[in-house]
Amino acid sequence: MWMSTPEQLSLRSSRDHTFNVALFEGLHSSDFCEWIEAYTRNRTVLAVTTPTVERLYGNDIRAAFASVGLKPSWLVLNCTERTKTMESVLTVCSAASDAGIDRRGALVAIGGGVCSDIVTLAASMLRRSLSHLRIPTTLIGQVDAGIGLKGGVNFGEGKNYLGCFHPPEAVAVIPSLLKSLGVDTVRQGVAEMIKVACTSDTDLFRMIEETRGGGLQSWVLNGDSLAHEPIQRAIAAMLGELSKNPFEVTSYERAVDLGHTIAHPLEASTHYELHHGFAVAIDLAFSSVVGWHLGWLREETALRIVDLLVAVGLPVWHGHLNEDLVLRSFRAAAKHRGGNINMVVPTDIGRYRFLKREDQCPPGMILEVLTYLRARSWQEGMSNSGTAQYGVELPAEGNLARIGLQ
Ligand SMILES: NC(=O)c1ccc[n+]([C@@H]2O[C@H](COP(=O)([O-])OP(=O)(O)OC[C@H]3O[C@@H](n4cnc5c(N)ncnc54)[C@H](O)[C@@H]3O)[C@@H](O)[C@H]2O)c1
Repeated sequence: MWMSTPEQLSLRSSRDHTFNVALFEGLHSSDFCEWIEAYTRNRTVLAVTTPTVERLYGNDIRAAFASVGLKPSWLVLNCTERTKTMESVLTVCSAASDAGIDRRGALVAIGGGVCSDIVTLAASMLRRSLSHLRIPTTLIGQVDAGIGLKGGVNFGEGKNYLGCFHPPEAVAVIPSLLKSLGVDTVRQGVAEMIKVACTSDTDLFRMIEETRGGGLQSWVLNGDSLAHEPIQRAIAAMLGELSKNPFEVTSYERAVDLGHTIAHPLEASTHYELHHGFAVAIDLAFSSVVGWHLGWLREETALRIVDLLVAVGLPVWHGHLNEDLVLRSFRAAAKHRGGNINMVVPTDIGRYRFLKREDQCPPGMILEVLTYLRARSWQEGMSNSGTAQYGVELPAEGNLARIGLQ
């Protein structure tokens, strides 16, 4: 009988991937049109967008394609946290099939994080792997969801429970698209910016702190170019962190998981009434106060983080938060992160360590931390729903930078 060595019947594979994130002034800028042409010419293309983005920018985006002689197939898909499901993924797959997208074709996601998560998963499944481009239209999309490698949908109780690693071919970031966002949607993006600043960019943290968040929010909403530097810094910090462990195979300890341990179960417990960005803010406050109670983070630094979240108008508490939810979150995180909770705990601005086991944060400590956050939230006049009822109020118009400097 012929016997082979294990080496003779093995296959070694690896996949290298680089994608660029390019910043553009607007949908009409010639360099954006060139970007479209470079990535979509001579390909079958399906653009997927949401009803809101279609209403606001659909014609302009189609005009940008038309300016370089292209007319992609177009799908307007209802993209909300509740429709972030396999059904939506299959709707994209059907549209791609109807549009005759071939193996060299591409999907283009034009929308917030929900849209890009659905399209990414559809692209990973179509013909086993189809290329996809992203034009994120929310702040979370531009600094986080749209520049990551993952896609996914909610399943059962699990947020993003079904998903994939499938990096985009390229991403176009156009900050001027954010002008039409509501202030809460901007705040949600600022939560992700504070998160990445906390672990990876102390200057960005200071930048947001100096304007108490209000300046940044106003710049974004006014389409002011002053927003470009913090957005660019947040993208660079995020890409820097992701590139250390892009497919999450070298370690389950990831700085970008700051704010993402109790956030997902909390969102799911509200049937996604609580937005992801708000849940991240609450989790970030929780992790910081845990750090303080563990003696890993100085009280003044923990309060600096909580103060900044509050100043931005972000919630630090939700009525569904209790010991049971925290323990369930710890157990769910351990299942997802190789057996350890790996909750990221800031130890300073720009530094962090990982809480690994439940016994490091016993029920008494959880209770103290939750009691503090609830009291703080009440003191600040926030509702239990996690929606700030006060915060930095944005004047209706004008150069709003000054409100942050008061
Ligand atoms: N894959 C990842 O790495 C990753 C990372 C972070 C977040 N996410 C996911 O991203 C999602 C959150 O993303 P999001 O905050 O963009 O939410 P979202 O996609 O639900 O968009 C928020 C709202 O903004 C509206 N909108 C979008 N663009 C607009 C514009 N330019 N003007 C006016 N309104 C606009 C949308 O219609 C929607 O109502 C969550 O599901 C989260 O899990 C994924």
